[in-house]
Formats: sequence, structure tokens, C-alpha cells
Amino acid sequence: MSSKIIWITGGSSGIGFATAKYYLKNNWVVVISSSNNNKLDIAKKKLSNNLNIKNLYVIKCDITNKNEVKKTISFIENQVGQINTALLNAAAYSPNKNQEFDINNYELLIDVNLKGTLYCIDNLKDVMKNRGNTIAIVSSPIGYRGWPTSGAYGMTKAAQLNLSESLFFDFKKIKISIRIINPGFIDTESTRLNSFKMPFLKSADFAAEKIYKGLVSKKRFEIYFPFTIVFFIKILRILPYKMYFYLWKKIGNF
Ligand SMILES: NC(=O)c1ccc[n+]([C@@H]2O[C@H](COP(=O)([O-])OP(=O)(O)OC[C@H]3O[C@@H](n4cnc5c(N)ncnc54)[C@H](OP(=O)(O)O)[C@@H]3O)[C@@H](O)[C@H]2O)c1
Repeated sequence: MSSKIIWITGGSSGIGFATAKYYLKNNWVVVISSSNNNKLDIAKKKLSNNLNIKNLYVIKCDITNKNEVKKTISFIENQVGQINTALLNAAAYSPNKNQEFDINNYELLIDVNLKGTLYCIDNLKDVMKNRGNTIAIVSSPIGYRGWPTSGAYGMTKAAQLNLSESLFFDFKKIKISIRIINPGFIDTESTRLNSFKMPFLKSADFAAEKIYKGLVSKKRFEIYFPFTIVFFIKILRILPYKMYFYLWKKIGNF
């Protein structure tokens, strides 16, 4: 039987890179893409230590560019094979500890995290229709509720979560399974920009294993980890505003 194919956007670093490594080890054909050729070259070299490097394809694809997204998906489908799983993981991140409203930052994060993800879904739905494939979107528990200092990033992650819930119903009709992945704090290039202490920080390899096992062996809509911190954030989600705002005041004088 031929191997299954996963396309991972933002596979040049962090969670995407570690997940690519995990899928390769499990004999999947893995296509990684991102917007930066140098980062992709480095990722390819690092993955070359892996036994199944013949199963690796590396493609430059800036998800904010509609045409590149279309070409990438058509290249994979025509030259590599049918995409079984698309892991829409690519995202931009910029912490805003000074709590300044920067419209350029909002626009950047909307372009990458929202519009970029939508361009991928728009093209994937056409090729995946009625094939029983999976689109998994990497969102964040920060999308459950508004956090101080994360208006732009949090807004895009909340939108991804809401979108996934909607598409879960709509895409069932065309036999595409929508899954959402909500990692807690994972040590990556992005989170190294944070200036606060991240509770229950885990490695990207930890995230990769959870994503692989969640997508391959389980059918649940949401994959979240590590349990303790994300479960705590889930409880914050249902608190009345008065208690929620009070808690942030206690945590960081916000
Ligand atoms: N780390 C965490 O604690 C955490 C927690 C919750 C959720 N997440 C989510 O996990 C996902 C991965 O984040 P990460 O922490 O692994 O960050 P990361 O190491 O910074 O990875 C982000 C990836 O996205 C790619 N990317 C950025 N802009 C792109 C664009 N325009 N087109 C295509 N690719 C682009 C980057 O590659 P190039 O620069 O080469 O384009 C990189 O490969 C994100 O969706 C993030 O929101 C992370």
C-alpha cells in the first residue's frame, strides 16, 4: 500500500517542523512549505538525517499569496499524490507587551493567519471533496477568550476556532473532516519572543507527538495539550466578565 500524504504549512520551524519529522518517522510522505527559502533549506538539511528522506518534499509557499497556494496544492496533487491530511499550521506572531494598537500588525496577522488559512482551505476543498480527507487547523487556546497584550494574534486565533467549528458542519457534507489543534505553550522561535514566564512550557517534539497521535488514532474534533494548562484556560472561557477581568488584574495588574 502506498504511503499517505500530509501537507504541512509553516513546516520550516517549530511545531510544523517537529510534526514533519514525526510523520516522516512513521512512513508518511511529507510535504513542508513556508514563505522563506533559506529556512526551508535548513529544515531540509536537518530532516535529511531522517531515514525516510525520500518521502520528503519541500516547497516554497507564502500562504498570503493566493496564486502560490493554488500552485502548491496542484503540484502536490499532480506530482506527489492525493493529499490525505493538510495541517494548516503557518502563522505570524508578534507579542505586544506595551499594549499599543498597531494597525500594521493587525493587518499582517489577518493576512497570514486568517486570509492565508482561508486561501489554503479554498483550494483544498476542491481537491479533497468526497475523498474523506482531513484539514487540521492549528489555532491556540488564546482564541478561547481575549487576553491582555494579544489583541491581534488572539483575534486571528479566535476566528480560526470559530471558522473550524462552522466548517466542521459544512464540510461534513462534502466528506472533509475538519479538526482543530490547540497547543498550550510550546518552545519555538515564536514563543521565544515572549517576555513572560510560560507555564507548562513543552517542546515542539512533544507537540508533534500529540498532533500525530490525535490526528491518526483519534477522531475528536479538538486536539489540545498539555492537558493541565489548556484545561485551566478552558475554565477561564466560561467565567463571567467580572470574574475574568478580576483574575487578570490579580495575575498581571491589567
Ligand atoms: N508555540 C506555541 O506556544 C503555540 C501555542 C499555540 C498555538 N501555536 C500555533 O502553532 C503554529 C506554529 O507556531 P510555532 O510556535 O511553531 O511558530 P514558528 O516556529 O514561528 O513557526 C511558524 C511557521 O509559519 C511559517 N510562516 C510564517 N509566515 C508564513 C507565510 N506568510 N506563509 C507560509 N508560512 C509562513 C514560518 O516559516 P517562514 O518564516 O519560513 O515562512 C514557520 O515555519 C502557529 O499556528 C501558532 O499560532 C503555537
